[in-house]
Amino acid sequence: MVKVMGKVEAWWLSRFLLFLLKTLCRIFVTGKHTTGMKHLVILSGAGMSAESGIKTFRDDDGLWRKHRFEDLASPQAWENNPQLVLEFYNERRKQLFEVEPNEGHKALKRLEERFEVQIITQNVDDLHERAGSGRVLHLHGELKKVRSTANPSLVYTLDHWELKLGDCCEEGAQLRPHIVWFGEPVPNISEAIRLVKKADMLVVVGTSLQVYPATGLIDYAPHGIPVVLIDPKANPAAHQSHVRVIRDTAAQGLPKLVDELLQQQ
Ligand SMILES: NC(=O)c1ccc[n+]([C@@H]2O[C@H](COP(=O)([O-])OP(=O)(O)OC[C@H]3O[C@@H](n4cnc5c(N)ncnc54)[C@H](O)[C@@H]3O)[C@@H](O)[C@H]2O)c1
Repeated sequence: MVKVMGKVEAWWLSRFLLFLLKTLCRIFVTGKHTTGMKHLVILSGAGMSAESGIKTFRDDDGLWRKHRFEDLASPQAWENNPQLVLEFYNERRKQLFEVEPNEGHKALKRLEERFEVQIITQNVDDLHERAGSGRVLHLHGELKKVRSTANPSLVYTLDHWELKLGDCCEEGAQLRPHIVWFGEPVPNISEAIRLVKKADMLVVVGTSLQVYPATGLIDYAPHGIPVVLIDPKANPAAHQSHVRVIRDTAAQGLPKLVDELLQQQ
């Protein structure tokens, strides 16, 4: 027996079909099959972690003011003096066990309430993860990880700070820091480009934008999307007019920006 649908049921069915159609259209047109929330991509650099107590690279008290990167962060340095390279990264790893995420890292976690947030970081610390951010892509490696010098697919996470000469992988080869050194390819750059191309908004924070290929990522952002740059030393005149420049630190500027974005939603 055919049950004739009442007006109310028919109305609900038509609403449901409309919703289904719209969702399918969105997936077809944008390729986005998630919640429909906007994709917010954050590109972070050393300034992001400065207020946690981790030194930047090129500021006046930055790491490269004291050391030449060729002596510490290159395949040649590893070949010439692996002990010195290990000491440099051990010192930084030790510090990482002593610092905490700052208000900027925590603010980015809050954004996940209303946005699909993807962080692409040039930093090798794990402060975004420890603040709770769910999607973090590391461009230049991770300080707490080490890998085999013979088989790069053998990657291990250290639960202590010190890596020594003689510490070997399961195949017997020396372990090295899981860091992208100068002159080495950046394996995650293609994934980063793919993510930036999908962005509805891009926030760049705490980077001098001097290291390629990370710097070039901005050029892959879809035309016309809002771009925000947070850096206390940023020069607004050096950026295109569509870039909103906020001359503030990560720990102060990000919570304000996040409040603003959450209110707009
Ligand atoms: N393989 C290695 O060991 C190695 C060596 C050198 C650089 N790198 C990579 O190069 C990347 C690029 O350098 P970068 O741009 O990240 O660092 P950077 O030191 O070049 O720039 C830091 C930026 O942060 C800004 N800043 C300082 N304090 C801030 C704060 N509190 N809040 C917000 N911004 C602040 C500064 O004005 C500056 O523009 C590094 O992140 C690093 O991964 C890697």
